[in-house]
Amino acid sequence: MHNNKQTLLLIHGFPLDRRSWNGQLDALKEQAHVLAPDLRGFGNDHRALPEAMSMDAYAQDLKDLLDEQHIERVVLCGLSMGGYIALAFLAAWPERVAGLVLANTRANADDEEGRKGREETALNAFDKGMVVIARGMLPKLLAEHTRNALPEITEHMGSIIAEQRPEAVAAAARGMAKRPDRIPMLPSIAVPTLIITGSDDVLMPLPTSQAMANAIPGSALVVLPEAAHLSNVDAPEGFNAAIRAFLKGIA
Ligand code: MLT
Repeated sequence: MHNNKQTLLLIHGFPLDRRSWNGQLDALKEQAHVLAPDLRGFGNDHRALPEAMSMDAYAQDLKDLLDEQHIERVVLCGLSMGGYIALAFLAAWPERVAGLVLANTRANADDEEGRKGREETALNAFDKGMVVIARGMLPKLLAEHTRNALPEITEHMGSIIAEQRPEAVAAAARGMAKRPDRIPMLPSIAVPTLIITGSDDVLMPLPTSQAMANAIPGSALVVLPEAAHLSNVDAPEGFNAAIRAFLKGIA
């Protein structure tokens, strides 16, 4: 622990990097020691990549990072793919987790069609390039009001996606395709848990979050109005307020 503050480990979504947490890094630094690493292969991370990067492998990287920094326990906050990784981390090292925030995510595995789509994404990353992927994804990631009223933020998110290496994107897509169903573990989650989502998240519709909240004992659900999949970008004040209240509750 740093100055008695909790460490908040922010785990970014796909296909983004630590910069997608820009609206949290400074805003939460009084309440927590905030860590927001680039996952393997994304952003400024240039470690070697396997063909498929499992959620367990990302979780292992994060655990190694905590070990290196001698950080014993953390509050995990994963958005979307980051949530899949947070659940993998919790399954492996529950004693290292002081609290869990699952944002715009889900616990179930991909179905057959979903897995096919992952392989297409992996191939498209190489063949069509990340600019095309960014263009296709942005309308689903950000709420309409962000795309209309905040062009700089919208362009920044687009360029973050466009800058990712196809190898990293493909490895993540293939890793997500292989992730296990974590629904069975939800009733046994014993750490304080906050679930955050956006009212307009078409990728992880509200019932998905409600089902997780119902299954995880004592968990709370915050639905941010007019926020889509990147709810931390669409509604940073609401997102940060929810995290602050959560941190206070488990201090
Ligand atoms: C993400 O934002 O990390 C992705 O939408 C997750 C996914 O594709 O399942």
